[in-house]
Amino acid sequence: MGDCLPLLCDAERRQATRIVPAAERCAYVVTRASLRSLLGSEIGVSPVEIEFTCNAWGKPSLAPAHGRARLDFSVSHTRGLSVIAIAQDARVGVDVERRRHVPDSLRIAADVFGEGVARRLGAVPDEGRDDVFLRLWTAGEASVKASGLGLAGTGGPIALCLAHDHAPRLGGENDVDSDEGGRRRLVPLALPVGHVGNIVAHFDGADRPAACPVELGCLALPAPAMC
Ligand SMILES: CC(C)(COP(=O)(O)OP(=O)(O)OC[C@H]1O[C@@H](n2cnc3c(N)ncnc32)[C@H](O)[C@@H]1OP(=O)(O)O)[C@@H](O)C(=O)NCCC(=O)NCCS
Repeated sequence: MGDCLPLLCDAERRQATRIVPAAERCAYVVTRASLRSLLGSEIGVSPVEIEFTCNAWGKPSLAPAHGRARLDFSVSHTRGLSVIAIAQDARVGVDVERRRHVPDSLRIAADVFGEGVARRLGAVPDEGRDDVFLRLWTAGEASVKASGLGLAGTGGPIALCLAHDHAPRLGGENDVDSDEGGRRRLVPLALPVGHVGNIVAHFDGADRPAACPVELGCLALPAPAMC
């Protein structure tokens, strides 16, 4: 962590001091420094010179000082793992969670994704339900982060559904064209054992992209004992 702190700005260092569990503080510092390094190498400036801004809903982005850079990024951390996604000419959101039991998954799914999704989740056998829920949840978080509008911007339940193989899919159950002709993509992440996650990219241009131009950095953080 000692190598990472000098890359952070004053506000980030102050933020780090407010994070009490040492492991989480360490994760924040290493993730932030890694984000600065990745973005710096993409746009050709040193990591310490990167400036961030936030929109009204809290989505961070590169500050206007970086001019023409059309890069978007998204960060997610959970215990022991951080993920950074960087996209060119797309808005991106990423979310990861630790695999675990979620006692209230059906109620949460009904609140966040609607009754239809909760019914489908309820039909998943008990032993697989937590995993399906966490995949759905990370797809929802990634979608919200990509939109940049926060939960308020969804204007109701998040438009996601469960396909017949129980994979999350963009769009509501009755959407004919759930990914708006390829302008939105949901990609499940291949992560270290014990984690699930998803990345969502929104392509604002009129053309359907041939491939998902999303670069993904997946960063395993040091154990707390090293911080
Ligand atoms: C804040 C929020 C982005 C979630 O973050 P989280 O899952 O708790 O934490 P993550 O580690 O995955 O993400 C944190 C990162 O998101 C980014 N972030 C914060 N606000 C954001 C926003 N409005 N839009 C996009 N990204 C945001 C930051 O980079 C942050 O990293 P930092 O702490 O190092 O600065 C937001 O989605 C939230 O509060 N959700 C509430 C939970 C909920 O009801 N979700 C329903 C959707 S399924």
